Order: sequence, then C-alpha cells, then structure tokens
Amino acid sequence: MRHRDAGTLPGPVESPLNAAFDLTSAGAAELDARDPLKALAAEFHHPHDRSGRRLTYLCGHSLGLQHESTKAYVEQELADWRRLAVLGHHAAERPWIPYHEQAAVGLASLTGAGPGEVVAMNSLTVNLHLMMVSFFRPAGERTRVLIEKSAFPSDRYAVASQLEFHGLKVRDHLIEVEPRPGEQTLRTEDIAERIEREGSRLALVLLPGVQYLSGQLLELAPLAAAARTAGAALGLDLAHAVGNVPLALHDWNVDFAVWCSYKYLNAGPGAVGGCFVHERHANRRDLPRFAGWWGHDKAARFEMGPHFDPIPGAEGWQVSNPPVLSTAPLLASLAVFEKAGMHRLREKSLALTDYMRRSIEARLPGSVDIVTPRDAAEHGSQLSLRILLPRTAAKLCYESLTDEGVVGDWREPDTLRLSAAPLYNSFQDVFAAVESLARALDARR
Ligand SMILES: Cc1ncc(COP(=O)(O)O)c(C=O)c1O
Repeated sequence: MRHRDAGTLPGPVESPLNAAFDLTSAGAAELDARDPLKALAAEFHHPHDRSGRRLTYLCGHSLGLQHESTKAYVEQELADWRRLAVLGHHAAERPWIPYHEQAAVGLASLTGAGPGEVVAMNSLTVNLHLMMVSFFRPAGERTRVLIEKSAFPSDRYAVASQLEFHGLKVRDHLIEVEPRPGEQTLRTEDIAERIEREGSRLALVLLPGVQYLSGQLLELAPLAAAARTAGAALGLDLAHAVGNVPLALHDWNVDFAVWCSYKYLNAGPGAVGGCFVHERHANRRDLPRFAGWWGHDKAARFEMGPHFDPIPGAEGWQVSNPPVLSTAPLLASLAVFEKAGMHRLREKSLALTDYMRRSIEARLPGSVDIVTPRDAAEHGSQLSLRILLPRTAAKLCYESLTDEGVVGDWREPDTLRLSAAPLYNSFQDVFAAVESLARALDARR
C-alpha cells in the first residue's frame, strides 16, 4: 500500500457513488442520477460532428472542454480593450496590470500551495526552462539530472538542451529511470533507490505528477523526500496532474513545478501555463534567473530603473506582462473548480475511472491491457489501454472508435488514452465509450 501525507490530502469519504456498480446502461443512468455534480456537465460545450451528433468526449487529458462562462470572461476583455485601450491596464473591470494575480488563490488551492508560491505565466516548457535556469545549477560533481525514460518529449528536449547549455554531455549526465523488465509503470522504490545511488552527483530530479502515457500518478511525497536527502532539487511537470488529482506541493517540499492549463483546467488551447516555486526560495537572491520587468518589484516597475529587484515568491520569475486574453478562460475555469470543489471532483473521478475499468474488464476480457495502475492513489482520470491486436489492426480499431463518435487519443504504437473528466463526463458517457470500443474491437478481429 502507498502512503500519502495524511495531514494535507483529503482521506476517503462516504460518496453516493461508492456503491457497487451495475455495469448495464440502466446502472450507468442510476449512478448519474446519484451524482451530486451531474448538473455541471450541461454547463460545458460538448463537441459535435458534422451531422450534429454529440461526441462522447473522453480527451480532457489533452484539451479540456469550454465552460459556458468562458465567453463572458473573454468578451469582457475585448470590450474593455475597445472601450479603454491603454487605460484598461488600470481601469478595466479586471485591471490588466495585476490580471494574473486573480488566478493565484485558485491555482494555490489546486496545487496545495500558498498564493505567493504560484503564478500564472507563459507556457509549460518555457516555465520549465526558466525554472531550470534557477534550480539546475551543476557544480563540482553534482551535475546530473534524473528523469523517467518515457518523459514527455518536450521535457527531455528541455533538459538535454539545458545540459548542453552548461557544456555537459547528455550521454553522461542524463539519468533515465524506467519500469522493471516486464512491467509498465514505475516503482517508487526504484526511483528513490536510483536517487539515493546517484546521491551527490545529482543536481536535479524532474518527474511528472501523472505520467502522460501510462496515466500513473507518482507517489510524490517520498520521492520529494528522497531528492532532498540526496541534496538535489526536485521539479515536477504537472501537465496531467493539475485539476486532476489532489496535490500538496508546499508540504511535499517540492522546489518547483510547472503546468499547462489546457488539459484538466479547461482554459483553452495554448492557454497561459503556471508555475510553483516553494516558499523557501521566495527571497533567494543568490539564485540566477532570466529576469524581465514583470518579475520586478511592483511598486517600482514603472520607474523604469536599470536594476532588477525581484518580487518575492513565484511572481519574481515572471518575465513579461500577462497575456490577458489567454488568462481570461483560466479565471473562468478556476471559478468552476471552486464551485465544484476538488475534493468532490476527485471522488467522482475515482468512481468514473473505476466504472470504466470494471466495464472494460467485464466487457472486453483479453482484448485490452489496462496499463494505468488500479490503486486509487496511483491514478487520475486517465486510463491508458493497450489494444491487444497486431499494430495495424489496433490503430484501425482506434479509428473505428473515433467513427463511432468517441473522442480519445492514440499514442504509438498501441496505446489508447481515455479519460472521464468529472466536471463534464457522466457514467453514461463511459458506458457508451466501452460499448463503442467493443464494437470497434469486434470489427477488427
Ligand atoms: C506531460 C507534458 N509535458 C509538457 C507538455 C508541453 O506543454 P507546452 O506545449 O505547453 O509547453 C505537454 C503537452 O501536452 C505534456 O503533456
């Protein structure tokens, strides 16, 4: 069994969705009827195909759906821009100079941080680079970076380029941990053991919250502790974790974390990303950083002086002024999260995922291998399914599923990713998707 920081993360709760599952269509309808969050789904815009058929959208791990309030948030900024032009920096309904600050409380609540520890800025990979400038400081024998072998390619490119930037060979300085032979997900003890073994050679550990391919939620508290013991910085890529699973970044003592907002945070394509910097680094002037005027002391920013004086906390890592139009949907979304409550969302997410797993196991035995761990503490909303067919047939099966009106996504060579997002998916969506998958598999056998 895994342990969690019981002091900060909510424990198991009595949920109306916890009862034994009836895997029929009527059972799914009954679970939906009992769902305390069911009304929320109608507040989202669900995609349709050309014939007007509503699609079963199980792709929130890639791009979340638009909430109905988003339009008003964006239109407010367009209207203020039309009406006020430059005066909107101070006089807009939501003034533009401190625009991003309105996201801080919501982001802090989703990540388990204090408001001064988070900032909405840039995009994920840009933030990762900015963080590595400060927290990957190779010196003496402490030069190595540990990542996982299936890290999202952008993370690997970023880390490799940072190593090269410091004149270090990727071959010698990039450590990649992977599942044991015959296994598909990572073991906490293996990562921790490797961190310990690398010890004083390790400068940075960069891990995902939820692994993008397998859907595995890593056990972050002990891994953060292992990195600290080794004297290495710990950074997290939370692209698939934020808004999906409960997080306690402050209490876990993570050094930094970065995320995007277009997946579970439903802030739209290319939306502004986010960044966490632990409070203990808030006032560190010894850390080099790539500075810009938006990270400079707010009171003196418009004095246009030559010397950089960073804002304490995560905001001090900002470079440019906030992208108001791509931050507006994030504000809309954070209000929805506040209304729904992460605790209730997680409860429903676990019930939906469990329902999906059991339906697949009952309906498709031997056809699909569920890669994502079963333990509730080790997954979020996504299930990664390996289709047990020859490669071409497996891909065709995915295409048939798409033709059936189910939106998931495909990662070569054989992985279908489906996620039921508790804000807008229902048990009936999951039922429909599994039925469609059964038909798609039948067609290819
Ligand atoms: C796990 C993970 N990391 C990094 C990225 C890259 O994000 P961005 O293009 O916002 O830098 C993505 C994008 O989907 C991702 O899924």
